[in-house]
Amino acid sequence: MNQDHANLYDRLGRREGITRITRELIKNHMANPLVNIRYGQVDDMDRLERNVIDFFCMGAGGPETYGGRDMLTTHRGMNISEQEFVTVVDDAMAALQTCGVDAPVRNEVLAILWSLKGEVVRV
Ligand code: HEM
Repeated sequence: MNQDHANLYDRLGRREGITRITRELIKNHMANPLVNIRYGQVDDMDRLERNVIDFFCMGAGGPETYGGRDMLTTHRGMNISEQEFVTVVDDAMAALQTCGVDAPVRNEVLAILWSLKGEVVRV
């Protein structure tokens, strides 16, 4: 299959690549003073990591089935601000860059994340 036509899942390195990116993302959140308190309150980080990996894999076109809650149910009542949303997206972009994902692919992920804003911010 031509690289340009491979789906996003393949271009992110399939489950292995997405696992690496997700671990980097969580590391970035923990070091980010604007949001680390949010993640410090989570009691099962392993479950969160697994769910984020599955969500990311499925959203990128992989065969995984996401077993977590939908985005609205997950973030409802947290009163997440626009600033928190932007910084979480920045953490994701930085994680992709650290993992060697090139700019056009990063922009595809950016568009997907941005499309979820209405299910995350102040819901
Ligand atoms: C497009 C952006 C976002 C996506 C795709 C996303 C995705 C997810 C996913 C898949 C989960 C796991 C749900 C589950 O385990 O059932 C989750 C949980 C969580 N998200 Fe987000 N999220 C986003 C933005 C944010 C923002 C901006 C914040 C606030 C800083 C945030 C805070 C949290 C927290 C604290 C949890 C853990 C909830 C818990 O297990 O109690 N998320 N998110």
